[in-house]
Amino acid sequence: MNKYSVSIVGLGYVGLTMGICFASKGIKVYGVDINKAKIKVLKRGFLPIYEEKLDELFKIALEKNTFIATDNYEEAITNTNITFLTVGTPSRANGSIDLSFVKSASESIASVLKEKDDYHLVVVKSTVIPGTTRNLVGSIIRDHGKILGEEVGLCMNPEFLREGQAVHDLLNPDRIIIGEYDKKSGDLLEKFWRSFYENKAPPILRTNLETAEMVKYANNAFLALKISFANTIANICQHIPNCDVNIVMKGIGYDSRICPKFLRAGLGFGGSCLPKDVKAIIHFSEKLGYDPILLKACLEVNEKQPYKAIELLKKALGELKGKRIAILGLAFKPGTDDMREAVSIKIVNKLIEEKARVIVHDPKALRKAKRLWNEQIDYAKSIEDALRNADGVIIVTEWDEYKKITPETFKKLMKRPIIIDGRRIYNVEEFRKEGVKILAIGYGDKNE
Ligand code: UGA
Repeated sequence: MNKYSVSIVGLGYVGLTMGICFASKGIKVYGVDINKAKIKVLKRGFLPIYEEKLDELFKIALEKNTFIATDNYEEAITNTNITFLTVGTPSRANGSIDLSFVKSASESIASVLKEKDDYHLVVVKSTVIPGTTRNLVGSIIRDHGKILGEEVGLCMNPEFLREGQAVHDLLNPDRIIIGEYDKKSGDLLEKFWRSFYENKAPPILRTNLETAEMVKYANNAFLALKISFANTIANICQHIPNCDVNIVMKGIGYDSRICPKFLRAGLGFGGSCLPKDVKAIIHFSEKLGYDPILLKACLEVNEKQPYKAIELLKKALGELKGKRIAILGLAFKPGTDDMREAVSIKIVNKLIEEKARVIVHDPKALRKAKRLWNEQIDYAKSIEDALRNADGVIIVTEWDEYKKITPETFKKLMKRPIIIDGRRIYNVEEFRKEGVKILAIGYGDKNE
């Protein structure tokens, strides 16, 4: 029996991945969520989300009987000695962070801790604005009569899991950042992670709460900057005959100071994290009296980038009214059905506005898409369905199945084989030799 027992509050992809990975390794885990429907699904042995490899680990956890899903805070907190807080921190309309879930979950945790005698460690995993762990979570625990550091420990431990690769990232982290209220809290969390990773723990950086909170924002802001940088260079390359942003990025990626990752030019970044976190840190910074112009520019580039696909399409096709346009890919990235802040939303809305006839395909996200657009567009059951009789196609998400489509298939099925490669998945020169018209982000057209 593992000496740690853990409660996870908030069963989104982060909380579920953590909980199930821990449980599959024999740690007793109580997964708490206020969403009763989600708990019901989990209790029946199903996962409410899709995450690669998570189902296999869930099976192991179920066999070991180590993962207990519940909406009962008392059951979860009293039976465990560490609680990870993994609730969402969405954006408000003005871009600022909405901490209401963090607040209500902290209150529920604190009201159980109030009655608990044993030492308990609370670890904030949710991405929160610097100061939140101490001033919101810590204050709530204190207001419930507990002495922080003595009776209840407090840490901020940012997570860097990517959706779709969360299991892989949890099992192979680059580093662990521990922000600690006091040494005892930090020591316990460090021991927990070291025992979880056995002798393969990554570098562990220990610091105070606020610095740890800032590491997460700086991390996501930097990733977002890299993408907007690649897209900026792509938009310049687009106007230079023979110039290809992919080779330019490969060239700079060899510089060890730059690193080749996150320099893929495309139609911009989406998802529930990068856009939200960059907005939140901009808002926070402005409140502190500093105007973060670099981060604002990063978002502005990203806001405009999806429309590059429409620009290219119009260049190839002229007016879009009445034309049948196929969209391949709706999810904000491959490997997920998540469409939050997906660039596909802007592109499809723009096409509807231009009165094009839109047909969309996605291996996973169609159900979500139907809720968004209902009868306004058509939904394709297969790639072939989407391409049949289309006047143009835009590649919006780089799913593997799209990479395999050959020029022959485009030519055979489409009314006109016009491809806008928004994610650079095709070899432009080879496709052109095969007689399709292809325009790609960041690929300077020879005839411009
Ligand atoms: C991101 C971070 O990568 C994680 O480290 C972090 O933990 C997570 O946010 C979070 O804050 O919870 P995620 O939102 O899952 O993870 O997605 P990414 O894989 O980072 O992709 C974000 C977007 O950037 C996607 O739309 C993707 O298509 C786009 N992207 C990514 C590019 O356009 N170019 C690239 O080179 C890389």
